[in-house]
Amino acid sequence: MKKFLISTENPYEVLIGEALLKDAGAYISTCIPPCHLCIITDSTVNSIYSQVIMTSLMEHGYRTSKVVFPAGEHSKNLNTYSNILEAMADESLNRSDGIIALGGGVVGDMAGFVAATYMRGIPYIQIPTTYMSAIDAAVGGKTGINLLSGKNLVGAIWQPSLVLCDYKTFDSLPPSKLQDGVAEAIKCAVVAESSLIEHIKAQDYEYVIERCVSIKKSVVEADERDMGLRQILNFGHTIGHGLEKLSAFSIPHGKAIAKGMVVEAKAAFRQGLTNVDISGDLTEILTNLGFDLSVDYPLEDLYRFALMDKKISGDKITMIIPESIGKCRLQKISLSELHKFIELGLQP
Ligand code: NAD
Ligand code: GLY
Repeated sequence: MKKFLISTENPYEVLIGEALLKDAGAYISTCIPPCHLCIITDSTVNSIYSQVIMTSLMEHGYRTSKVVFPAGEHSKNLNTYSNILEAMADESLNRSDGIIALGGGVVGDMAGFVAATYMRGIPYIQIPTTYMSAIDAAVGGKTGINLLSGKNLVGAIWQPSLVLCDYKTFDSLPPSKLQDGVAEAIKCAVVAESSLIEHIKAQDYEYVIERCVSIKKSVVEADERDMGLRQILNFGHTIGHGLEKLSAFSIPHGKAIAKGMVVEAKAAFRQGLTNVDISGDLTEILTNLGFDLSVDYPLEDLYRFALMDKKISGDKITMIIPESIGKCRLQKISLSELHKFIELGLQP
């Protein structure tokens, strides 16, 4: 088992290994004493992994309850959020109790936001069950839900007390969901470590998770509140979030980010923000990994959603500019330039 300490304001460990779930209660007891733990999960993950965790928690003296919502990005909304809060209040959870976020990034973001806000904040544990959530979503404390106007527009930064990452859970993940995580891993490679690409291609999950968590650790420790450097982890997301929303989430996060990275890389070069055009190599890498990189939505719609990006401050947006595969920098561009930026990125 590999262990990382994330030294944020409230530090916590990320444990990465095989078959950790059956001992979940033992790991959790190192950071949360016996109490009432509410498992928040989705309909798919519930049927596969809830029982083993509940059994282990009960063996370690925890009282458990469970709230299950329908799987999928469609559920990441105010309605589900409110239903979960009401269910927890019905179960009389109080501030000495906690939450287990069991699932992919949707569950992690939702349950984390519930934890951040229920009774002004209670502890929670992230148990990621997708490649996407293991390498990114479960670590760093970004929690939130979508509004009709766009992705993740309501949220909080609320760090978990522990991240328990058992990559054996990927065994039940359909190939298409696994591929979503591949896109986020490629993002990590483009932003910080080009050598990761060979390991991603080789499906060396343990190595890729460890490196992505290690990269995320250094970025989050340097900028926990997402005021600067952390925005580098958003490469491809200005366009990607728009594509998710415009497709009514039929394009999932990972596949949207893959498309978004290529558009943003092309745009950065064509707008003269970088001398190096990585878009050709990136297109080849992603295509060989099975991604469809077509973007079939109009410029004006993508621009409209880009204007809801959280990297906007005043009349400027911070974009992530690739200087090579493995190195990116942040650059503010004015909102008046953003339209042209997207237009250039969409051209063949
Ligand atoms: P997801 O949570 O919707 O999971 C994908 C699907 O796989 C779901 O249907 C789920 O039920 C199913 N599933 C999960 N684990 C499974 C398993 N082990 N076996 C079988 N089925 C399983 O999607 P995701 O790709 O994990 O996450 C995407 C979400 O994460 C997006 O909402 C995105 O915005 C968010 N995200 C957040 C952060 C962050 O830093 N907070 C980072 C990246 C992504
Ligand atoms: N997933 C991007 C971040 O955590 O900042």
